[in-house]
Amino acid sequence: MTVSFRRLATDGKARTGVISTPRGEIRTPAFMPVGTAATVKAMLPENVRATGADILLGNTYHLMLRPTAERIARLGGLHRFMNWERPILTDSGGFQVMSLTALRKLTEEGVRFKSHIDGSSHHLTPERSMEIQRLLGSDIVMAFDECTPFPADEKTARKSMELSMRWAQRSRDAFGDRPGHALFGIQQGSVFPDQRAESAEKLRAIDFDGYAVGGLAVGEGQKMMFDVLDYAPNMLPEEKPRYLMGVGKPDDIVGAVERGIDMMDCVLPSRSGRTGQAFTRRGVVNLRNARHADDPRPLDEECGCPACRSYSRGYLHHVIRAQEIIGSMLLTWHNLHYYQELMQGLRDAIAAEALAAFVRDFHATRAEGDI
Ligand code: GUN
Ligand code: ZN
Repeated sequence: MTVSFRRLATDGKARTGVISTPRGEIRTPAFMPVGTAATVKAMLPENVRATGADILLGNTYHLMLRPTAERIARLGGLHRFMNWERPILTDSGGFQVMSLTALRKLTEEGVRFKSHIDGSSHHLTPERSMEIQRLLGSDIVMAFDECTPFPADEKTARKSMELSMRWAQRSRDAFGDRPGHALFGIQQGSVFPDQRAESAEKLRAIDFDGYAVGGLAVGEGQKMMFDVLDYAPNMLPEEKPRYLMGVGKPDDIVGAVERGIDMMDCVLPSRSGRTGQAFTRRGVVNLRNARHADDPRPLDEECGCPACRSYSRGYLHHVIRAQEIIGSMLLTWHNLHYYQELMQGLRDAIAAEALAAFVRDFHATRAEGDI
């Protein structure tokens, strides 16, 4: 069995469909909760599934350092190890090396770096990244790339993009033929249309099972990101999934889906849940704020998650302030539930060719800032 993508409906540039894998179907547009260290922090896998997630994201970088890919392979692979039997996409490691390690050296061969955990030395290359993602048993493997920092001048961005495209070919060669597993290429090119086009051409010539838009959400801001998304997804094959890496806030997700993106991932709902920030259809609620202390109302009366069904804002405020573990659990659950409900709303709206009305309503219901 192979990994395939079926588009079921389109509305403007937006698409809804299904990615089929031997481990289950992924409804698109899909949001992938982040399970960096073989756990979506504060959540049991069955609870992540209950929020509506079809697929999780894992990280080569973190798992290679601890507990190591070889150990996970000995323990039956990442799915068995973390008790999530559905699809897993793994990022290839380069992005995390560059953002998490102080000591690193980038060469044509790959990246040498010292672990942020114990200072030990490691070398990550396209070949080693493919090997680690194979040992993990990842269903969707990402090519090894360099996420071009922002801002970058044209010459720097081009050098970085061209290196990533040589690494993309090496990733494809090292990945080989693995039925049931997919390899995605990653487009770079910063905010330069000609470089995005060239990158897309190179990736299409190599031929991947899906294509990511990389190098965005790195400080350029929503307007510039949307400017790139106005043209970059169109450069990638229409019949393959398109994945926007590391995005984003709810309004980023809506804008990306309108522009033809099928998959996204972000730590925001889980990470900000742990600090007391809740995403709701009416906007962001910061439960640390003292004004919630005596509030008997639920966080969101329209939400069906456990945090909203069974607890008051006053309780959530208390457990977040007291740094009780249940505070992280409840708010992570709520945020993941909200994100998955948003994705279901987007999928239904595209299927009904009513995305424009959905987006209008999405923006009309939300307040700017803390509500
Ligand atoms: N996560 C967010 N952006 C990127 C990117 O450009 N490349 C990779 N590999 N991961 C990312
Ligand atoms: Zn809720």
